[in-house]
Amino acid sequence: MKVLLVNGSPHRVGNTYLALRKAADALEEQGIETEFFWIGAKPIGGCMACGGCAATHRCVMEDAVNTCAARAAQADGFLFGTPVYYAGPAGNFCSFMDRLFYSCGGDGSTFYFKPAAAVAVARRAGCTAALDRVNKYFGCAQMPIVSSSYWDMAFGRTSGEVEQDGEGMQTMTNLGRNMAWLLKCIQAGRSSGVALPECARSQRTNFIR
Ligand SMILES: Cc1cc2nc3c(=O)[nH]c(=O)nc-3n(C[C@H](O)[C@H](O)[C@H](O)COP(=O)(O)O)c2cc1C
Repeated sequence: MKVLLVNGSPHRVGNTYLALRKAADALEEQGIETEFFWIGAKPIGGCMACGGCAATHRCVMEDAVNTCAARAAQADGFLFGTPVYYAGPAGNFCSFMDRLFYSCGGDGSTFYFKPAAAVAVARRAGCTAALDRVNKYFGCAQMPIVSSSYWDMAFGRTSGEVEQDGEGMQTMTNLGRNMAWLLKCIQAGRSSGVALPECARSQRTNFIR
């Protein structure tokens, strides 16, 4: 089983990476494979609402989003990490997530029923608002959300400082362990014949008609 860890910071090895790395160490200790995906330091365009992905489940803009989607299809669980910018997830990361989940979030295979968690890293404030925002992607893709011994946040300003946040690092270790446990439970359930639930889709009410 494999967990894909998405680093939504423009810093490849900054605080967001180091928080995710701590969770990855715990996952690997539990026998779970890990793979990192860095969204990069170039601007990522937001969703243009062209609808081009409706038939293909692939974004019309060829960039990190489609590369990540291909890796996500092979993963069994996810950790999505972001630095906090103005008390929310980083803008580049939001553009990335909007397009990733809008293009393949509803394809029935890339994300459905695969556990996920969000991780937020900040100098001082805004983590809970950022986590609330990122959890929204999981909440409409039928993904079980994994929790830890505290909300999945850690603090630091310059790259590396986050490792001094003892409780934050401990929270990441517990998050990795909890994710590993849930993945094993899901696998055990599947092996003993527990089928995925049916999903009703007949109702779609747009409020004005
Ligand atoms: C544009 C910008 C906005 C930021 N806004 C916040 C903020 O609202 N709250 C906060 O505590 N830190 C804020 N920070 C600090 C970063 O969240 C913090 O330095 C974080 O550790 C960076 O993670 P990274 O090393 O993975 O990039 C901001 C940084 C930038 C560049």
